[in-house]
Amino acid sequence: MPMENIVLQVKNLNIEFHDHDVPERVVNHLNMELRQGEILGIVGESGSGKSMTAMAVAGLLRRHDMKTEGEIRFGGKELLHADRETLRQIQGNEIGIVFQEPMTSLNPVKRIGWQVEESLRIHRPQMSRDERFLRAIQALADVELDNPQHIYRKYPHELSGGMRQRVMIASAIICEPKLLIADEPTTALDVTIQLQIVKLLQRLNQEKQMAVLFISHDLSLVKRLCHRIIVMHDGNMVEAGDTQEIFCHPREAYTMELINAIPKLEKVM
Ligand SMILES: Nc1ncnc2c1ncn2[C@@H]1O[C@H](COP(=O)(O)OP(=O)(O)O)[C@@H](O)[C@H]1O
Ligand SMILES: [Mg+2]
Repeated sequence: MPMENIVLQVKNLNIEFHDHDVPERVVNHLNMELRQGEILGIVGESGSGKSMTAMAVAGLLRRHDMKTEGEIRFGGKELLHADRETLRQIQGNEIGIVFQEPMTSLNPVKRIGWQVEESLRIHRPQMSRDERFLRAIQALADVELDNPQHIYRKYPHELSGGMRQRVMIASAIICEPKLLIADEPTTALDVTIQLQIVKLLQRLNQEKQMAVLFISHDLSLVKRLCHRIIVMHDGNMVEAGDTQEIFCHPREAYTMELINAIPKLEKVM
């Protein structure tokens, strides 16, 4: 694969908390690459460092009680130590971000349309109101919400959890990012809705050739969606490779444990 297809490159990422007497390393020497059109999964049990990795890539780890080392290269820029203005130009524009809980990410007193348009107001200030409206309707349709004009005027509490997560995805992709980071995007949802969201991400990845960093503790979802996976445990990358390869021939005992923990029925799906 030629170098120019590499969207994201993480080299030797270390993340440490310095909020106690003894520093606590929560991500240790992580290396990964993500290519255009590829879906990379990060799996591992709770507390393994998945979200910290996602936050670092999204440029959201700016805290005085943390120390980060290494390099995060995205589109010719280094994000881990980039200045605020560089990050501001990338977040929501070249990198879209979706988190687990759609209700806390949405503002309860603003209409859906206004919220979906937020990244356009920041990153496409030259757009007229009408252009923004049309683009928002398109994004709501892209995430397969029926009657987008109607949804545009709704408030978050008037939508179901699955619809709210679709709205979050619409907001994240409205500027057509090269990379979408989705951290446990389906964890708060019912199983059937989880599968719908996974299928939606799959379709968006294929149609827009958008790279996706999909983070989940749920191996059955990761298996369906991801081309490659990274298995994390206690901040360390224990295994990485092609999804089929890892599921068929896991090398590490920890990966085997995770695979064996998937309910039997789901394994045959
Ligand atoms: N403010 C904090 N101070 C110290 N450790 C923290 C803090 N926030 C998170 N951690 C630790 O960082 C580790 C990784 O957390 P996280 O990346 O959120 O895990 P995951 O997303 O895989 O569940 C966990 O062990 C967690 O306890
Ligand atoms: Mg997490």
